[in-house]
Amino acid sequence: MPEEKPTLDHEHRPTKLGTEFITKFYRLLKGTAIYDRKNFNIDRLTQECVQVINGIVRSEGNLFLKIVRDNFFFNNIRIIVRADKFPIFKAFWQDMRKRWIGELEFSEEVNAEHLKDFIYLLSGLEENNESNYLYVKKQLEYRNIESIEVGKLEFYRDEEIYIDSEDQKKYSKEVYFKSIGIVKEVVEGINQQKAINIRKAKRLMQNAVNAIMQDDSTLLGLANIKNYDEYTFNHSVNVAIYAIALGQRIGIPKKHLSHLGMAGLFHDMGKTKIPKEILNKTGKLSPEEWSAMRFHPVIGTELIMRMKEWGELCTRMIEGAFEHHLRYDLTGYPRLTRKRKISLFGRIISVADFYDALVRPRVHNRFPYVSEKILGLMLERSGKDFDPAVVKVFINMIGIFPLGTLVLLNTNEMGIVTQIQEEAELIDRPKVCLLYYSDGEYRKGKVVDMREMDEATRNFKRSVVKTLDPNEYNINVAEFLM
Ligand SMILES: [Fe+2]
Ligand SMILES: [Fe+2]
Repeated sequence: MPEEKPTLDHEHRPTKLGTEFITKFYRLLKGTAIYDRKNFNIDRLTQECVQVINGIVRSEGNLFLKIVRDNFFFNNIRIIVRADKFPIFKAFWQDMRKRWIGELEFSEEVNAEHLKDFIYLLSGLEENNESNYLYVKKQLEYRNIESIEVGKLEFYRDEEIYIDSEDQKKYSKEVYFKSIGIVKEVVEGINQQKAINIRKAKRLMQNAVNAIMQDDSTLLGLANIKNYDEYTFNHSVNVAIYAIALGQRIGIPKKHLSHLGMAGLFHDMGKTKIPKEILNKTGKLSPEEWSAMRFHPVIGTELIMRMKEWGELCTRMIEGAFEHHLRYDLTGYPRLTRKRKISLFGRIISVADFYDALVRPRVHNRFPYVSEKILGLMLERSGKDFDPAVVKVFINMIGIFPLGTLVLLNTNEMGIVTQIQEEAELIDRPKVCLLYYSDGEYRKGKVVDMREMDEATRNFKRSVVKTLDPNEYNINVAEFLM
């Protein structure tokens, strides 16, 4: 979403004000999904939002927010989205896009009741209706609210936009499995010394970037499912997906994200030259076998350098292949004769690679770590093995309970995590699809939101108690997630 580097000039006033407004406005909008109009939480959120809006109107004379493609403009100046604010911007962007609203304007100070009217109007809009803005305009007019204006969201034709979430899911799945196909093709191509179709892979990674920018939950969900047999191919695609999703949150420009995907997709290419007996060995590796194993980044780099088809991508690909087992403090392998900093792509791919390699079952670790443990491990080693900034964003992205995790709730219900909350403070309150047992198997129940409060006790209705192993319950997570 942001084109700039994540470093931000703190004096950039439109960014500061625009971010303040979007944060409060989005919180309020989210609140309407959980609370009704008379709830005290809504009063508080409305009050906070009124203060920000009126403060801006007083100092700037006007508050005009416009969404153009995936950029936000505050009083006609583009907002630079900071990495830590990215989840909120993205969630807000998705909510507005669903409703086809692309402009919000406050030309005068508002009062709380008018703002409440407006926010419930917005949140009650149907999805995918292009003329929503006309309906809101009429309703505002009818209620004599003159200080608030809305406008239609404008899309650009050259962008692939999947408004319908089912379409989007189907598209994401297609991208995932096609990517596995292309990795297979390339690996076979290398083994048989055939020409390799790089262009197809590039196009697929551009599609993956588009899908992830619109909604990364399906692709991250697919990457999180851990019951595939063909480890190598899935691993490559997963690393690419984690890398793109991570890069997006860090603020890497869109056109470089597909390069990052390519670097992720082919980071382990060197493994094609390692004997299968070593790769698939279940027992402990001998020192010789280990050193062969540790040679795969160098082999990968050589393979890339020998292929002219990579073109301008060459450097990026080398960063992924050569650096992914190098640690942040420059230990790891291959040994460096001259110390130099590891590239951003290298740092991102090593985090994605580490996570995906540990989280899934395979010959080397028959008992996969649960995600919480790996994230803990990464945090522990952040600054030594991994770039701390990258780790922080990654943990936020995966959540404590990643998509597809089987969880037990304090209500004794069982469920599967289907959505992570975008706000960091709510990372332990995902949306969960409840499971119920009937006719000898588990079935899909309703989806519940762990943020939901019990009005009477003012406690959360449900909380996650612990994670469970789906294999123990004979549950195929993929079926429930898709
Ligand atoms: Fe590797
Ligand atoms: Fe790897």
